[in-house]
Amino acid sequence: MANSKAFVADLASSVSHVPAKYIRPTSDRPNLSEFWSTLDDSSIPVIDLQDLRGPSRPIVIKEIGQACKDYGFFQVKNHGVSSTVIDAMFRVSREFFQLPESERLKIHSNDPMKEVRLASSFNVNTEHVSNWRDYLRLFCHPLEDYIHQWPSNPPSFREAAAEYCRNARELALTLLDAISESLGLERDYINTVLGKHGQHMAVNYYPPCPQPELTYGLTGHTDPNAITLLLQDDVPGLQVLNNDKWLPVKPIPYAFFVNIGDQIQVISNDRYKSVRHRALVNSEKERISIPTFYCPSADAVIGPAPPLTDDDIDNHHPAFYRRFAYSEFYRKFWSRGLAEENCLDMFKIK
Ligand code: OGA
Ligand code: NI
Repeated sequence: MANSKAFVADLASSVSHVPAKYIRPTSDRPNLSEFWSTLDDSSIPVIDLQDLRGPSRPIVIKEIGQACKDYGFFQVKNHGVSSTVIDAMFRVSREFFQLPESERLKIHSNDPMKEVRLASSFNVNTEHVSNWRDYLRLFCHPLEDYIHQWPSNPPSFREAAAEYCRNARELALTLLDAISESLGLERDYINTVLGKHGQHMAVNYYPPCPQPELTYGLTGHTDPNAITLLLQDDVPGLQVLNNDKWLPVKPIPYAFFVNIGDQIQVISNDRYKSVRHRALVNSEKERISIPTFYCPSADAVIGPAPPLTDDDIDNHHPAFYRRFAYSEFYRKFWSRGLAEENCLDMFKIK
């Protein structure tokens, strides 16, 4: 029976209607005509990282700070991750999702704490409506702790994904330095706070959907980590919230879409916001996106950076969050539904 499939990829080609469990209530459905008609004039900042290493560094830092403050997201180009590395990552990702269902089922798991797994939707244990998405999720740092658990099929998967991860990590570290500086903190401030650091990756696979007006590929959410670097193929689908409006993110070949996650919202004491974003699907084409979730290690203790807080009642910058271990935040994130209230509220000082 179609509805008993573990993965939406294996259901998509056999249905002409979206099964009931994917259908959103009428108050929460995508506006596809708005998405497609505004795609070309979307105003997402694009930042050229070329000059980050030269005398113009302060100018680029300022641009990054402004984008973080006004939007919470931006795209980056000239970021140092080569097109060869990116092409190889997309190639093994496509090959992976073309594997027979029986092969993919071998790593199927709905346990969010598992270090390597293939799942569908977001979290079938907690959600009420499913998402039109399958995703491979991999822990990536330190690489040698996890790579032996990664898929060995397609045969070049591990090599291509490992090279991609190393490159994505370099870029994440570069951006974290820049973001620290943009907040007026020491350059290595966030780097140090993240402890031993963590890095997870997903390969999101959104099959064509017969009724994309009824469902989401991924419903609105903020990312629980520090910073996300998202690579998307040439099929549009990503939307981000800005001033109460959903902006489409038109894919730029080989650029990364960068968004601030919940941990930088906390560290920056709300100067930078972790904004909601979501993915729409379409009836024509599959879409693949590859986010790198750069995060603290489980034992790292996160809280507002002291230089960004004050007790002065007139300045209104008391610490807005209590300090917590990242493991606590991560557990809470996965134990609730994605669309529910922001996880950050649970850590707010009332
Ligand atoms: C995510 C995410 C958006 C996309 O995986 O957290 O927001 O375009 N993905 O796939
Ligand atoms: Ni996300």
